[in-house]
Amino acid sequence: GIDYTGMMSNSQNPSGFTKAELQSLQIELDRAQTSLESRWEAGELDFSKLLVSMKAQVPEIIKYADAAASKFENFVVLGIGGSALGPLAVHQALNHYYYNELPPEKRGLRPRLYVVDNIDPVRFKELFQILDPSKTLFNVISKSGNTSETMAQFLIVRDILRQVCGDSYAEHIVVTTDKAKGNLLPIALKEGFQRFVIPAGVGGRFSELTPVGLLAAAVCGIDIDQLLEGALSMDQWIRETQGVFSNPAQLRVALARFSWQKGKTVSVFMPYVDGLKTMADWYAQLWAESLGKRFDRQGQEVHVGQTPVKALGVTDQHSQVQLYVEGPNDKVMTFVTVEKFKDTQLIPLDSELPEDIHFLGGRTLEELLFSEQKATEYALTLAGRQHQKIILSSLDAYNVGQLLLLLEWETAYMGELLNINAFDQPGVEEGKNGTYALMGRKGYETRKKEIEEYGET
Ligand code: PA5
Repeated sequence: GIDYTGMMSNSQNPSGFTKAELQSLQIELDRAQTSLESRWEAGELDFSKLLVSMKAQVPEIIKYADAAASKFENFVVLGIGGSALGPLAVHQALNHYYYNELPPEKRGLRPRLYVVDNIDPVRFKELFQILDPSKTLFNVISKSGNTSETMAQFLIVRDILRQVCGDSYAEHIVVTTDKAKGNLLPIALKEGFQRFVIPAGVGGRFSELTPVGLLAAAVCGIDIDQLLEGALSMDQWIRETQGVFSNPAQLRVALARFSWQKGKTVSVFMPYVDGLKTMADWYAQLWAESLGKRFDRQGQEVHVGQTPVKALGVTDQHSQVQLYVEGPNDKVMTFVTVEKFKDTQLIPLDSELPEDIHFLGGRTLEELLFSEQKATEYALTLAGRQHQKIILSSLDAYNVGQLLLLLEWETAYMGELLNINAFDQPGVEEGKNGTYALMGRKGYETRKKEIEEYGET
């Protein structure tokens, strides 16, 4: 559920929203829904449209994942951005928190999972100090099949594998890329790598529920069928429900739209569940890369976008929350909580210890966490700060699937309300092209000269 009481007008925060105000956006939301529906038909929203065919692909993915799990000790994702953050977020949400450290029998004899997501040379080298490449399967994920970071990771790994495994090196690489485009595809075909397809109409940051994320999840034994089931149920709810108070994506986007209009330029995403810590990274990418845009659809310069900030409850109550309660009132907060943790931890009572800490004894860690979360909400409300809460009944595959789709849909809606294209990323492409130029890729000579001249001034 979504608890948005903290966004609404009250005695502490008269500038909060009223129901009538949210309702007043309905015409615009209906227009957005119609426009999204035609984009859906046109294949621009395949993150939603292809869920059914993804579900049909589950047996094939599980079959491959199970075979891989019985053969390899480690599964390493090579990719960056949208090709890494989803697999990482779902892994942290649904696997044991110390999954990789567990003895194999305690993780169902499944491989350890690593998601590289960067090109820091030290980290990359050190990865090979803790894993044996001959017992590892590498999943190279790149929708474009061109991204420098991923291609560099791939080239290094391929070289290591050829040295260690000789002719059988190709059995250690599985590629997830576009069906028809990019440089990874011909290499995969030529060298005989197993291949999974990222459907053309699904953008990187929207691709978690395609083989991009489903394969890594299945290798670890996560129930990807339930993940998709949850996603489908949220998808259906959003696509088939009218009205800001009935449709969760419309509600969230109405709140986001008004807060943006009223100067809330920062959106803080703060789960109170350690398993969702990297979900905040995934959300930050989704919100920033989709909505931070210079031009609107008519080509007018608009420079829109709310800055996402990732935080973690309760940890950040001891750091960032000071700013949120007393700093500039330019932030809107989303907490994510669970009604029930999958385990409980009692705090022992020891009457010999100082009386001031007796209140903790006999209570549980989750009681403490829920109290802290409530206390933070209260402090924010008193300070006239707006906040809302997404409540999951528990952290399981079905609910995580729902959460992913809710956040994806609200991003798509926000794109409509801001009249921008939420599915491109020209700013990111600019950086990729600059990198090609500086690294000497053929065809980028003029750009190289421009950047070098800029560096000299
Ligand atoms: O969301 C996006 O499009 C980006 O974050 C990409 O996922 C990222 O740049 C990696 O691109 P690719 O998967 O093409 O290697």
